Amino acid sequence: MPNHAQRLEFPNPLPHIRAPRGENPGIVAGYFRDQAEANRGAAKAKMAKKLFIKSYGCQMNVYDSGRMADVLTPLGYESVDAPEAADMVILNTCHIREKAAEKVYSELGRLKQMKADKDDMIIAVAGCVAQAEGQEILNRAPVVDMVFGPQSYHRLPDMIAKLEGGAKNILDTDFPVEDKFDALPKVGGAGKGKGAPAAFLTVQEGCDKFCTFCVVPYTRGAEFSRPVEKVLAEARALAESGTREVTLLGQNVNAYHGEAAGGATWGLAELITALADIEGLDRIRYTTSHPRDMDDALIAAHGDVEKLMPYLHLPVQAGSDKVLKAMNRQHTADGYRALVTRIRAARPDLAMSSDFIVGFPGETDEDFEQTLQLVRDIGYAQCFSFKYSPRPGTPGADMKDQVPEDVKAERLARLQALLNEQAASFHASMVGRELDVLFEKPGRHEGQIIGRSPYLQAVHAKAPASLIGQIGRVRIIKAKTNSLEGELIAPGVREVA
Ligand code: 5AD
Ligand code: SF4
Repeated sequence: MPNHAQRLEFPNPLPHIRAPRGENPGIVAGYFRDQAEANRGAAKAKMAKKLFIKSYGCQMNVYDSGRMADVLTPLGYESVDAPEAADMVILNTCHIREKAAEKVYSELGRLKQMKADKDDMIIAVAGCVAQAEGQEILNRAPVVDMVFGPQSYHRLPDMIAKLEGGAKNILDTDFPVEDKFDALPKVGGAGKGKGAPAAFLTVQEGCDKFCTFCVVPYTRGAEFSRPVEKVLAEARALAESGTREVTLLGQNVNAYHGEAAGGATWGLAELITALADIEGLDRIRYTTSHPRDMDDALIAAHGDVEKLMPYLHLPVQAGSDKVLKAMNRQHTADGYRALVTRIRAARPDLAMSSDFIVGFPGETDEDFEQTLQLVRDIGYAQCFSFKYSPRPGTPGADMKDQVPEDVKAERLARLQALLNEQAASFHASMVGRELDVLFEKPGRHEGQIIGRSPYLQAVHAKAPASLIGQIGRVRIIKAKTNSLEGELIAPGVREVA
């Protein structure tokens, strides 16, 4: 596999050092709860400071933003909804597609004006644009106080201390040898109020696949799996705080290979099976997966583990073997078809999801037709589709035969028309069915609450707000473009203590 990292200006990922094993999670959770409360008390006594984090891009950025807030809580920071009210603004950026950096610079322009009225406002750029652009951000936008990457945000307290000590323009885009998760406070402890009904949990980070269009291996670093016990402890803490559903996150989540007790290594299937034993945790999902890492055990888990939801995001990107090869995807279109057939044999009602890129260099009309054919063959519930955007430093950016923008746009429109048709018919097939819905929040209309079906569809129903955080049985009466409407049949499959 080519190592493209040498061609980039920013440092290559270092392998992470694995965290020590053998902690008693119960004791750890208790300790952190006490500690977090003590910290919170002390911080409040100092003075509450306001924090605004804007999260761009993927779900892992959403998770990371939450963890940044956790790290800043002991320092007296409380989250607010708008940058105007904030003492610190963090832009947690995404670099995966077009104009990401430009968006960040224009946001920084707006923040510069805000800072003009509020001199001590701290402005930070985090995430993958920070990792990729590094010093360039500080050069182009001197209003920025701190730039740090996805692997170094646990050092935020140190960075802030340095700023307070008079340092300027802090840059931390290292791939540190320590495990950032060990340095973060534990999630979901008491004192934070009830946990979100559905939460993310990062179990794996980074990617060694080097698809030729993708910037992730450079910005997130090498593949790293969190040790099993750490993941289970975080999941237990979430469940104790009222979380009923976890989505296991990783750029290559099904490549998970976490260190387990006795020196064993667990794959994702074993991890999911162990998570399914956690009392109070009723639903498990995982994203994002690579077709090459769907092993037999994981396929079997889709049939055996009831709590594993029947929805799988398994990006294929394209339907032409020639394009897949140029993308360095290391699977063929027929290989993907056969894989989906096997997973559906294990779980017949599995709803499939994928990402697609149209207009990758060299893609012809015929190649694109093969993508449409693959979509027809699989039948998707919901998908994400993008025009290819050359990412500086990735091999695709230098390939010949770049596809003109108007051709990409036309192909994308055709693909999306087909995907929308499939999504609509998938939604429509739910009408008249009874589904379990995990209610997550109030709806837009009075008396309405919203949750998710097992197939990840948004479902709203008239029901008391007290059902938020519980699973209710709902009869679907109407399919809309992006959601389903249902009637509550029986609330609370199981009460939450
Ligand atoms: N251009 C367009 N889409 C991209 N993706 C990743 N890199 C690019 C790129 N350079 C898409 C892929 C991936 C999803 C998260 O973003 O489809 O699966
Ligand atoms: Fe990017 Fe996913 Fe390919 Fe890794 S497997 S390089 S994250 S598209």
